[in-house]
Amino acid sequence: MARVQAQVLSTAQESGVVAEKIRDGIDLEVNGERFRHTGDPQMPLLWYLRDVLRLTGTKYGGEAGENGADLVLVDGKAVSAITQPLAKLAGKAVTTVEGLAANDGSLHPLQQAFIDEDAIGCGYCTPGWLIAGVDLLRRKPQPDDGDIDQLPNLCRCGCQTRVRRAIKRAAAGKVARA
Ligand code: FES
Repeated sequence: MARVQAQVLSTAQESGVVAEKIRDGIDLEVNGERFRHTGDPQMPLLWYLRDVLRLTGTKYGGEAGENGADLVLVDGKAVSAITQPLAKLAGKAVTTVEGLAANDGSLHPLQQAFIDEDAIGCGYCTPGWLIAGVDLLRRKPQPDDGDIDQLPNLCRCGCQTRVRRAIKRAAAGKVARA
């Protein structure tokens, strides 16, 4: 028996194949990459993104996500990451602000419009605005000021006017380098 085990061990070592047990977990996709979360299923998505995946673009936006800084896209729709436990995200596709740019690094047209309109102050709220703006443009390709003002996002640096201009600039397709 010991000889058989030694043979199996030596064969495995030679082949470089290592046996791995399958761990139960929650499978989800983040910015096109697949992950399995094997920890607490009630962990909020926001902390999984920031503390586990180190995707720190998405910010804390209050206990209920009330200021919009924690918005991400889940299957294309904007949702508050703090209010989403991972248990609800099995099989879903999450896009964070880090995933908006194309694979070749070129910015999303709305990101470029924020630069063109100088709509970024300290930047804390910007990822949330970008996600909300992408979602809005999907729902309403030509939004007006009222549509933009209904977004949950707040900017403590007072950039709302420039944010409005940036979203409308992206809607009009007037971006410098998109
Ligand atoms: S840019 Fe500072 S909070 Fe909006």
